[in-house]
Amino acid sequence: MSGIPATEYPSWTKLQQIYDAEHSRLILRDLFAQDPDRFSKFSKEYTSTSGPDVTFLLDYSKNLITQPILDTLLSLAREAQVESFRNKMFAGEHINTSEDRAVLHIALRNFNDFSISEAGTDEVAKVLEHMKVFSNAVRSGEWKGYTGKTIDTIVNIGIGGSDLGPVMVTEALKAYSKRDLTAHFVSNIDGTHLAETVKLCNPETTLFIIASKTFTTQETITNAESARDWFLATAKDKAHVAKHFVALSTNTAAVTAFGIAEENMFQFWDWVGGRYSLWSAIGLSIALVIGFDNFEQLLKGAHAMDQHFLNTPLENNLPVLLAVIGIWYNDFYGAQTHVLLPYDQYLHKFADYFQQGDMESNGKTVTKGGQRVTYQTGASSVTFSGVSGTNGQHSFYQLIHQGTKIIPADFLAPATTHNPIAQSKHHRILLSNFFAQPEALAFGKTEEEVRKELGPGQSEALYKSKVFEGNKPSNSLMFPKLTPATLGALIALYEHKIFVQGVVWGINSFDQMGVELGKVLAKNILAQLGAPADVKGHDSSTTGLIHYYQKHRQE
Ligand code: F6P
Repeated sequence: MSGIPATEYPSWTKLQQIYDAEHSRLILRDLFAQDPDRFSKFSKEYTSTSGPDVTFLLDYSKNLITQPILDTLLSLAREAQVESFRNKMFAGEHINTSEDRAVLHIALRNFNDFSISEAGTDEVAKVLEHMKVFSNAVRSGEWKGYTGKTIDTIVNIGIGGSDLGPVMVTEALKAYSKRDLTAHFVSNIDGTHLAETVKLCNPETTLFIIASKTFTTQETITNAESARDWFLATAKDKAHVAKHFVALSTNTAAVTAFGIAEENMFQFWDWVGGRYSLWSAIGLSIALVIGFDNFEQLLKGAHAMDQHFLNTPLENNLPVLLAVIGIWYNDFYGAQTHVLLPYDQYLHKFADYFQQGDMESNGKTVTKGGQRVTYQTGASSVTFSGVSGTNGQHSFYQLIHQGTKIIPADFLAPATTHNPIAQSKHHRILLSNFFAQPEALAFGKTEEEVRKELGPGQSEALYKSKVFEGNKPSNSLMFPKLTPATLGALIALYEHKIFVQGVVWGINSFDQMGVELGKVLAKNILAQLGAPADVKGHDSSTTGLIHYYQKHRQE
């Protein structure tokens, strides 16, 4: 995040030369045949050195790399001063330069290992205590609704980072959830989302959690107001709102103006980015669903990964390795997409979550110094959402195997399932696919093998269509079981990967100016939707679309 364009580093030029000279010879079949120790050279086991025990294996041997390529990628990271910027982040320096803010989600899971002189970091423990007391009170039934009934349903209203993290984690850790407390998440401004949700709720036993860092986000505030209207249609008295609405925000004035008492507000700070906020008060729905102790385990697992990132030399530093390998494909192979493929039903929202994490962080075209980049940035990090396990194999894997594009993939799986149905028969089948897919992608099937398999006399087209070129790169990440601490470590691993890539690309990974234009235009158009004569200042296409809507709407 120096703002220096990545192309100015000597290692960038060297990598381009290596790519031009060698990429046609980087064939995984050959690389594995030439070196029987490739797996042990290009895989690492992570073991936490603090907090709960977390281990996992990262196998990056099925990548189109050699040791000299990896060494040059790591030199690139050094030239971009990844270590120095990492230290600046941990020290609380304002590395989010466009907003003049520190980037301190790491302070939310710090547990006093290091001190940071930034306002608010000394209040983290107090907010965690507030979350603990409140979540325990709701879960134990001590917190009652306005008619004296126990809360059995929570509805988190938020969008982007104020939604995706809690959704992903509560799904991922469902095995730890309180089954008699139902959690819903409403994010979309489309009224259907709220309307269909409240149909499942009883106003006497529902708690609404309004999650918004700014408390000005149009979708969230509109949904919150409609939820309050729905609640008051039954409860009548505004005083009852206090028992059924809490807020997670940095904006005390807006929260109290909405009618939520300050004691029902859970504070966080401007140095927590929306897409890095699940560790903050935004995680209240997580604490409610899985219990505060498990939420704390999640934080501790992430903290141990922070320590690994902070203290491990780059060549053994897992977020750094993932980051530089990603840059190799993104910027030298021209890969447009990176795909996350969890083989665990519980992780079915993991890719959705990192879609925002990656694309909102690194989808930038100017460096911190304001120069337009001449290389690809985070656009390679699109993920295919909502898919886990073998479902993707029956959907989009065809393109990864035999399409014309290169799509590097990360496969993730637990060795042990929380649900050993039929003596783990299901899990063995699932994992056999987890092992088979990276193998098939890497090694493919040659025409010779196809001809041998099909025998003579088939059409030439059939032989060709069954060839798998292979040489498709992937990482595999395996962990013993998906525990809260393991999930915390995995999330932090990818967060830091995104950070490292942003540093190398010289961009600011912590603002999101690109989201603003659409918001401003929508506000302007909203004021013009009344009558055709109000529609002014647009191109003919936008005007035509609005006129069509005005003609056909029935309200
Ligand atoms: O999409 C823009 C964004 O600012 C995200 O970064 C953020 O997660 C989301 O909107 C929600 O913002 P808030 O928590 O302030 O409602």
